[in-house]
Amino acid sequence: MLFFAAASLLQSESRPLPLVPWPSHVEVKGGSFTLNGSTTVFANSRAARENADFLRQSLRSTGLPLKSTSKTTQNTIVLKLVKPDDVLGEEGYRLSVGKSEVDIEAATSAGLFYGIQTFRQLLPATTYGPMNNQAFTYEVPGVEIADRPRFGWRGMMLDVSRHFFPKEEVMKMLSTMAEHKLNHFHWHLTDDPGWRIEIKRYPNLTKVGSLQNFDTFGKPIDGQNHGGFYTQNEIREVVTYAKKLHIIVVPEIEMPGHSVAAIASYPDLGVWSNPRKANPWATESSNLNAEDSTVQFYKNVLDEVMKLFPSTWIHVGGDEVDKGPWVHNSRMQELKKQRGLKSEDELQSWFIRQIDGYLTAHGRRLIGWDEILEGGLAQGATVMSWRGIDGGIAAARAGHDAVMSPTSHMYFDYFQGPPRSEPHAIGGFVPLDKVYGYEPVPSVLNDTEAKHILGVQGNIWGEYIATTSYMEYMAWPRGCALAELAWSPKEARNWSSFQLRLKDNLSRFDAEKMNYRKLDKAP
Ligand code: ACM
Repeated sequence: MLFFAAASLLQSESRPLPLVPWPSHVEVKGGSFTLNGSTTVFANSRAARENADFLRQSLRSTGLPLKSTSKTTQNTIVLKLVKPDDVLGEEGYRLSVGKSEVDIEAATSAGLFYGIQTFRQLLPATTYGPMNNQAFTYEVPGVEIADRPRFGWRGMMLDVSRHFFPKEEVMKMLSTMAEHKLNHFHWHLTDDPGWRIEIKRYPNLTKVGSLQNFDTFGKPIDGQNHGGFYTQNEIREVVTYAKKLHIIVVPEIEMPGHSVAAIASYPDLGVWSNPRKANPWATESSNLNAEDSTVQFYKNVLDEVMKLFPSTWIHVGGDEVDKGPWVHNSRMQELKKQRGLKSEDELQSWFIRQIDGYLTAHGRRLIGWDEILEGGLAQGATVMSWRGIDGGIAAARAGHDAVMSPTSHMYFDYFQGPPRSEPHAIGGFVPLDKVYGYEPVPSVLNDTEAKHILGVQGNIWGEYIATTSYMEYMAWPRGCALAELAWSPKEARNWSSFQLRLKDNLSRFDAEKMNYRKLDKAP
């Protein structure tokens, strides 16, 4: 029996095992398991069989058959769903690599999946690439690993509004996230420049709102319409794919700011009847109005969203609402008065509360950017802290959950080296070591408050990110550092060890032909 209490000190050895994120407990036993043409796979349950399929699929480059077996004989990988215990938790697993058998056991399908991801990382990096006919035998080092995550929310956000990414590219990102045990994909589907999700009841949202003939900064381009959106079938495909990877897809439908694309599609939603064309900086025209009919419109949108996304959390944005248009519009002032609200902040909170009540009544939970705190927090709301950590602290102190995603450490659209030697980015400076050094639980929180910190998330905003290869450059390896601080015990974090293990991780990226940022680039 292995215990999680002590993080292994093997981290400080010169060549740690090539694992990212580092597990809770690792013991190297010596010896090895030989994976070869006669290796079989035993699965004791449906969840284990599904994971056996995933194992086969992810090792297809080896060309090994990895046939099923009904008994645990020599040279077998055993996948076992076992009774829950306090040590395994929801997502934990035990992985034992012996001379004649590999055992992976967990209390959930997710735990088995993460055990497999760790096992994969013990194999040569080439197995992550295309068909490899060179080797038919792979030595896997003998280990005992017991592992479970520190946080339940290990997230990455992708903005597909500023630039659209087709579903295949989103799915590739999901697969890389899963390799690093990241489990929440926050999909920023609507914003000023483009509405990217088909809503059957309101076809203009995509017919009008997904297209633009200006660039992401509002400059006219070539007279052609650009853009794109996901049909509901495509969304389902992505969500199903994510589920297999044990990733929860959290959709974001922005309200009441960042809504130019929606207002361009349905002008009655806006404060002014004639909004500017979709321009991400035109905040003065990007507010929804606070009419009951607008709230109803968004409830109708959410009906379709909830059908597509099984996620408990639904993100409703709430950030950067310029209150000016509400201040200067007599109808908004009348609505504010009628509802007994004292400020525009309260008007925003009124809006969010209507939506919070609706989501709660449907068994879901609202999450929003930290501005949703400003006019009073809706009852069931979770806060995503982005303007530093204060929003997360305030939420946790008020007994609300929070996800930490501060610009200072978690904005992966920021520069990761001197701007002179980097591709154009939005600004800021978030190099790899800074990401790695982030501690998601603010030290000012007591133990009870700290439990409200659900986890941590890296954000990839798309103003400057027009291609998948640039998106990969911004996401990785910062996403590897994120994975470690989201998954590994705090005491196990070790920058020197991480740098060594990262080299192995980057070899895996090489095999996958990922355009990650190279470590030897100018600091
Ligand atoms: C944000 O970066 N506006 C949440």
